Amino acid sequence: MRIDVITLFPEICRAPLNESMMKRAQQSGALELHIHNLRDWTNDRHHIVDDAPFGGGPGMVMKPEPIFAAVDSLRAGESRVVLMTPQGRRFDQHAAQRFSRDGHLIIICGHYEGVDHRVVENLVDEEISIGDYVLTNGAIAAVVFVDAITRLLPGVLGDVRSAADDSFVEGLLEAPQYTRPAEFRGWKVPDVLLGGNHAEIARWRREQALARTEKNRPDLLRD
Ligand code: ADE
Repeated sequence: MRIDVITLFPEICRAPLNESMMKRAQQSGALELHIHNLRDWTNDRHHIVDDAPFGGGPGMVMKPEPIFAAVDSLRAGESRVVLMTPQGRRFDQHAAQRFSRDGHLIIICGHYEGVDHRVVENLVDEEISIGDYVLTNGAIAAVVFVDAITRLLPGVLGDVRSAADDSFVEGLLEAPQYTRPAEFRGWKVPDVLLGGNHAEIARWRREQALARTEKNRPDLLRD
């Protein structure tokens, strides 16, 4: 998969997407990632990317011209154009799975008070929010979005079962995990996990997943 990220803050994206699994995904060729500075598509001396909103109001709005120029130059055949914005549809694991089947994503990171709405109406295929809170800019959201999608690409996770077991895949949170030592500060690992009875372990994990979901995310059980 190819992903192009267009942002005013390339460095925010670069570091987290060049470590660990994201780095290996690029080295193996599963992900071809390009991070671009939107200012490279300005024509004026000061590389201006924003302006005051028509109708008044606080803050600045991102101008349409550099964004259209950037996407026009990066688009190649079947490209999907995504805008990171708190006004978008809320991102979740099912959306990550859907996007992971695309061949090319172009991600626009919003900033300031938003982007000129002609971008949303005429350029963007999907507006995506990573959650119901407002970040200082969309570059941080883009990192989350790219990470969640990339780990689902074929060959990126060492063990394919890891993705199948993910929280949310089956509408439940994951069951608790333990490792050695079997006793730590007097707290013991549940006996069932030490016994080697796989049917019992599976039953225990299912119960625990349900209890944890009921406690932390009851909304998942009601939907
Ligand atoms: N930009 C600012 N906040 C955001 C959010 N929650 N999701 C996506 N982009 C954003």
